[in-house]
Amino acid sequence: MTNAYLDVGMQSRMNRIINPKDNRVVMLAVDHPYFQGPTTGLRNMSNTIKTLLPYCDCLMTTRGAVRSNIAPEDLGSKPIMLRVSGGNSVLFDELSDEKLTVTIREAIRMDVAGVAVSVYVGSANQQQTILNLTDMINQAEEYGIPVLAVTAVGKNMARDLRYLSLASRMCQDAGARIIKTYYCEEFSRLVDAVAPTAVVVAGGKYSSPPDALQMAYDSVQAGAVGVDFGRNIFQDDNPVGMIRAIRAIVHDNHTVREAMDIYTACLPGAVKLD
Ligand code: R5P
Repeated sequence: MTNAYLDVGMQSRMNRIINPKDNRVVMLAVDHPYFQGPTTGLRNMSNTIKTLLPYCDCLMTTRGAVRSNIAPEDLGSKPIMLRVSGGNSVLFDELSDEKLTVTIREAIRMDVAGVAVSVYVGSANQQQTILNLTDMINQAEEYGIPVLAVTAVGKNMARDLRYLSLASRMCQDAGARIIKTYYCEEFSRLVDAVAPTAVVVAGGKYSSPPDALQMAYDSVQAGAVGVDFGRNIFQDDNPVGMIRAIRAIVHDNHTVREAMDIYTACLPGAVKLD
């Protein structure tokens, strides 16, 4: 196929995010302070990014972190997935009250590979967050910039196949190029429900290395293109070992046991992140 049939800018950015050789990605999520403030593992954000950047394929973060916490010499070394929705904080129970916080012009100026918008399906602000997503898609598509939809469901809704598929499929229909969601039982049915749109899995709260690696393994086996993990990497006692083990699962099809061997081999000298 020649490039004449492709939206080349969009395809080029998608290739920077998801490796076209194996259709997989290890995205590192370090966007949490936008509503959580000084999160454990991200208090010294510059050091966390410097330490983990070499091992991720794409960094999901915020405008402020790109400006203040990526060393000048590292800018451009990895594609940025820029969070462009926010306005909430952990001080309020209702987290869904988000609006768009960064313009497409600013995202272009920052040379990002993609932009990320949260959608809270079944929440008090469902319509507002869906319109945040569609507004950004309308703007970003014009410039060939993929939009990643971060699915969240209402606080009284289970993170199960029914609700996560509903949210994911709604984001696909809105025009999201990549969907970030949580892992659930029968996850392959969610992936099938949004195919061929790429799905990446969020890690959630810190659990344990074997549990987080099992989730990464189960996600890619079920058809996810990869993971977008945060706390299970930067809050671990052995963060470099953890992200290297995740890479082995996502890119090299390692088993959880093989990945745990990589994790364990990195334990001597492991440095916890502040
Ligand atoms: C949440 O809104 C943020 O987008 C995080 O990036 C996301 O939850 C993934 O991080 P974690 O693996 O820590 O859940």
